[in-house]
Amino acid sequence: MLRFDHQNLLYSPMIRCGISKELVENLMPAVINAHQDIAHDRSRDILGFYDLPEQDIRPITDFSSRLDARFDTMVVLGIGGSALGNKALFSALRTEGQLPRKVLVYDNVDPVFLTEILDAIDLDRTIFNVITKSGTTAETMAAYMIVADLLRRRYPVDYARRLIVTTDKEKGFLRQVIAQEGYPSFVVPDNVGGRFSVLTDVGLVSSAFAGIDCAALLAGAGSMRDRCRDTEIWSNPAYLNGLLHYLYMRAGKNISVMMPYCNALYDFADWYRQLWAESLGKRYDRQGREIFVGQTPVKALGTTDQHSQIQLYAEGPNDKVVTFLTVNHFSHDHIIPDLHPEREEVNYLGGKRLSELLNVERTATEIALTKAGRPNANLVFDRLDAFSIGEFIMLYEIQTVFTGKLLNINPLDQPGVEAGKIATYAMMGKPGFEEELAGIRRYLSERNQLTD
Ligand code: PA5
Repeated sequence: MLRFDHQNLLYSPMIRCGISKELVENLMPAVINAHQDIAHDRSRDILGFYDLPEQDIRPITDFSSRLDARFDTMVVLGIGGSALGNKALFSALRTEGQLPRKVLVYDNVDPVFLTEILDAIDLDRTIFNVITKSGTTAETMAAYMIVADLLRRRYPVDYARRLIVTTDKEKGFLRQVIAQEGYPSFVVPDNVGGRFSVLTDVGLVSSAFAGIDCAALLAGAGSMRDRCRDTEIWSNPAYLNGLLHYLYMRAGKNISVMMPYCNALYDFADWYRQLWAESLGKRYDRQGREIFVGQTPVKALGTTDQHSQIQLYAEGPNDKVVTFLTVNHFSHDHIIPDLHPEREEVNYLGGKRLSELLNVERTATEIALTKAGRPNANLVFDRLDAFSIGEFIMLYEIQTVFTGKLLNINPLDQPGVEAGKIATYAMMGKPGFEEELAGIRRYLSERNQLTD
């Protein structure tokens, strides 16, 4: 079971800026309100991620088991919520879960990155998975058109079995393409937002392909949801962590660092960055008043970033809350040989396991930050497996929505992303954006005059 150690988030003689238990308990009316709001949203069927543990995954597992056994690689073409979860799941479990097949994710429009992926794969043995809820995202559409064209030219007879599409069940131009071309397809449900969709077909198709135990993922998610079902704040890790982060935001700690001591979880810190940033970074509250809230999520890696970031975290501005991710047992380990028994510079390491050094260093960093009065928490995985990853995902999805409720914002939208999308459409010549293009031209010419 995923363990949440919140002790160093609370007030103590060392963490003087910490939150007192009394303050937490005084906020129970706000917790109850947020909880009721979530229940209301669930009854309106707009928080579908809560119900994903009960979904029927047979269509996915059947599809995966029927696939041509020669396919050994899946390349996901998507971005944001349609990519980060896929990457994180595969990274977390590829080695610990000894996965038989590979998942690569192309989530940019960088031409060199695409070249590297195409160079790294054997096209004969690769299946592509285009994932886009809206079916309109320029980055994903560009990648789809390049890859579909490549497949049609290389495999004129059977290109359609080499590409699958995951999109809205009815809407969008890709549904027409699916009907015309006969691509196998999966669905992003209406009631699950992009960044909350990792446990839908969005993340499960590539996971099943890779060999991840999807039933265990969902069982872990269900178990965490049940742990977070009521307002018993001290035994509800999502609400407690959300409330503590909310209180730290109110106290000016506007940076949230996620620091796994485990390379395999680093991509989950990236997934968290999107979830926390896009959901909570908002200009307006639910009554339309300007509030400019949010907490900037930062990712760091232990021990690597001890030699890069920890100086700042310990002695720089006290504006951060750090969350460590710890793994107790690794399925692969190395004993450090006692290569120089006579040399005290290194002989203390001889005979120790690498995982022991790793976790000792994490504890050492915790002690250093705590002594410096910096609030920190620890999420402890006994081992990395599909169940515990499912717990982690559900924990953060609930925590994010709950924190959004405390902040009185809508955690499910992302209006700030639209302006950039519209400007891109205009500059790339998409019909219907002529007025925006004229405005952009005026802006560029004024800017050029200023810089001339
Ligand atoms: O969380 C979100 O809704 C976004 O980050 C989307 O996932 C992202 O913009 C990609 O959108 P789409 O799946 O429609 O291509």
